[in-house]
Amino acid sequence: MPVQECLQVIENVRIKEDVFRLVLSGQRHFFLKCGQFVNVKVPGKALRRPISVTSYTDHTVTLTYRIAGEGTKRLTECTGELDVINECGNGFSFDLFDRDILLIGGGIGTAPLVACAEEAVKRGLKVHAVFGFRDRSQTLFEEEMQKLGADLHYVYDEDGENTVTKVRDLGWQDMNFLCCGPTVMMRAVDELMTGEGEFSLETRMGCGFGGCMGCSLKLKSGMARICKEGPVFRKGEILWENLL
Ligand SMILES: Cc1cc2nc3c(=O)[nH]c(=O)nc-3n(C[C@H](O)[C@H](O)[C@H](O)COP(=O)(O)OP(=O)(O)OC[C@H]3O[C@@H](n4cnc5c(N)ncnc54)[C@H](O)[C@@H]3O)c2cc1C
Ligand code: FES
Repeated sequence: MPVQECLQVIENVRIKEDVFRLVLSGQRHFFLKCGQFVNVKVPGKALRRPISVTSYTDHTVTLTYRIAGEGTKRLTECTGELDVINECGNGFSFDLFDRDILLIGGGIGTAPLVACAEEAVKRGLKVHAVFGFRDRSQTLFEEEMQKLGADLHYVYDEDGENTVTKVRDLGWQDMNFLCCGPTVMMRAVDELMTGEGEFSLETRMGCGFGGCMGCSLKLKSGMARICKEGPVFRKGEILWENLL
């Protein structure tokens, strides 16, 4: 359940030209799941900014954010304490996996998949992953995924490759998977995969906890709020044309 609280900024450092790692800590025991997000109050901005959980412990949460506009730019200057709504959204479920898990990510959408890899290893699953970026300078999470023993494949637009063609070339279409990245990529993944899977969706948000209906989306089964019933939805539920 979403919890509003002030968390201590332990680290807020640049890890790539326009990407930062933000580590927050609190006294309370966090009950986070991979695929959930933290809704961050940025000074001077009325609306909070949703950022996925990259990693977590009982008392810390690590976020990875790319500077997209004024809000995330201001976030780079934050020190001391941050007002956040923690434990937002439903998160990924792991009921599809008993031995292997495939993680498919694009760009900053790879961030929540690191938490999934950590959870998968705790559950004794073998992690396979295909992560795509525009070019090599944008590569994220190499060290984290290596430490987890993941069978990780990077692809780069600059080489004329993409995550979807790579999954197909590896013959992994029938694996069960979790996916997060640009909407066009996720739609192509949905069309390619014969295995079951889940997608984490992105949208502009208002409240972030189900109160304003600002993130409502029509699914095959009816209306859902991305911040509350999502951001994670099952393959087969999403009407991609409503997101593009
Ligand atoms: C559930 C969820 C998880 C997210 N996780 C991460 C994460 O782990 N790391 C990360 O870097 N970003 C993440 N985002 C996106 C992040 O919330 C936005 O980049 C951020 O709110 C932009 O704020 P801003 O003030 O910097 O930019 P703005 O000035 O608000 O926007 C700058 C540009 O980005 C576009 N934009 C803003 N928000 C979104 C959005 N949600 N989806 C698509 N386009 C958007 C705007 O249309 C505009 O073109 C997540 C979004 C959601 C909904
Ligand atoms: S952002 Fe308010 S209901 Fe989702």
